[in-house]
Amino acid sequence: MDSQTKILTDKIEKAHLGGGEHRIKQQHSKKKLTARERVDYLLDTASFEEIGVLVTHRTTDFNMDKEIYFGDGVVTGYGTINGRLVYIFAQDFTVFGGSLSETHAEKICKVMDLALHMGAPLIGLNDSGGARIQEGVRSLGGYADIFHKNVQSSGIIPQISAIMGPCAGGAVYSPAITDFTMMVEHSSYMFVTGPNVVKTVTNETVSSEDLGGAHTHATKSGVAHLTAVNDVECLDQIKALLSYLPQNNTKTTTKIPFELQDETREQLATIIPEHSSKPYDMRRVIYGIIDDDSFFEIHKEYAENVIVGFARLGGRSIGIVANQPLFLAGVLDVNSSKKAARFTRFCDSFNIPLLVLVDVPGFLPGTDQEWNGIITNGAKLLYALSEATVPRVTVITRKAYGGAYDVMNSKHIGADMNFAWPTAEIAVMGAKGASEIIFKHEINASEDPIAKLAEKETEYAEAFANPYRAAQRGFIDEIILPQDTRRKLLKAFSMLEEKTMPLPKRKHGNIPL
Ligand code: HXC
Repeated sequence: MDSQTKILTDKIEKAHLGGGEHRIKQQHSKKKLTARERVDYLLDTASFEEIGVLVTHRTTDFNMDKEIYFGDGVVTGYGTINGRLVYIFAQDFTVFGGSLSETHAEKICKVMDLALHMGAPLIGLNDSGGARIQEGVRSLGGYADIFHKNVQSSGIIPQISAIMGPCAGGAVYSPAITDFTMMVEHSSYMFVTGPNVVKTVTNETVSSEDLGGAHTHATKSGVAHLTAVNDVECLDQIKALLSYLPQNNTKTTTKIPFELQDETREQLATIIPEHSSKPYDMRRVIYGIIDDDSFFEIHKEYAENVIVGFARLGGRSIGIVANQPLFLAGVLDVNSSKKAARFTRFCDSFNIPLLVLVDVPGFLPGTDQEWNGIITNGAKLLYALSEATVPRVTVITRKAYGGAYDVMNSKHIGADMNFAWPTAEIAVMGAKGASEIIFKHEINASEDPIAKLAEKETEYAEAFANPYRAAQRGFIDEIILPQDTRRKLLKAFSMLEEKTMPLPKRKHGNIPL
């Protein structure tokens, strides 16, 4: 090896060791992969091309000029996942705890710019002690540069964040702006202020895990869209998620070859219980409609009264928004409205057609909901669906009551095809509530008010709790048998494939945030 080659090889070898063997061992002892191991696992074999491997920080304060590590705590570059170009940064906790210096931020910004200009997804693997304390405001500036680029890329390229270690302070806002945040259980946490500050300010005692661990964010705050038991599962989820997404907002998703056969699904015919107040699992409906094993659920443990996720239908990627009668009878509340609205907007940004499955008794009543803004939050979903220009198809399986009927992708707010099963109940309110109001005098005057109410309920249900009046009006395009749903949807989405809806010129709408 000549001397020039040796100089270069030595430097690269040093860079590959990050903060050194001892710190790599510490990382492994926490059951975490190193930044390079993560990148290697995520990307196709030998596809990674590193950018900025020899970058070093420029700080001289606190004797930092004596501590130089090539790469400066972040591995950046590009490669492929299942043959598709992606840009990636992975913070290296073995170098100053993966903390973000000015140069570390510059490296991230460089791949963000490339991802945006080339129209390819950006993946960030976060594992960092936050702002590089020795650099002060230069580090804060670096964060802000990243946030700004996250926003500029939003809706243009998919941005995915995996939290695979600490992520605290303002650093949480980059993942929060990206499209999907994944967290690894027990080794990652996210919070704006940690347990010590919480104790000082509010006198609450809470662990890092309870305050901002994966479970907390997946179930309580909704900050985490997905969780994984370890690094490998997290990286596998990124690969799976990406398979449903296009490269950017001007492209469509890859279609897996598909041939229409007998698409009857008898199992769909027996899902709806005989009694309309009985719950059932809407996931069974989803599984009966989509291509086998293709459901990729998002926000599974958060606001479980609505289900959102990606699937394939006839080899095409679709987004599904569905009420879930198993939880709170599938009612729309603050959290489920926000969850469904955000997912809807993602799909619309990236040309992913939407299927909306409806079984909703209405919006959740009560002071808690009203005081927490069910009006504004319910409006988010109404707004998100109304503005969506992707192909939009609805199937009402059972209840579609009141304002929630309008909101859940009704014809009136621009859905393209609206189907209903014969079990659908489309009305202003349930038969009991409606009868109590409109037959009040008759019921009160009756010798047996309970029997009268029951009689009126049956009368009302027969007249209104069905899909036929909506179909007469054209609000429902077709009443279909459950077992024919998959076939009908395959045809509907195929018919809508070339849908284009030019939008009027405006800066942006004012979604009620
Ligand atoms: C410089 C840091 C660092 C940081 C950790 N290190 N965080 N160096 N700046 N922010 C270094 C440590 O000195 C240590 O160096 C190595 O990284 C590993 O850290 P440990 O503490 O040994 O690891 P661990 O016990 O796992 O604890 C991890 C940690 C802790 C919980 C992240 O390091 C920590 O609390 N760090 C400080 C977090 C913080 O306050 N950051 C600033 C937040 S404010 P050696 O040489 O010993 O290996 C912020 C604002 C952002 O981020 C605003 C954006 C708008």
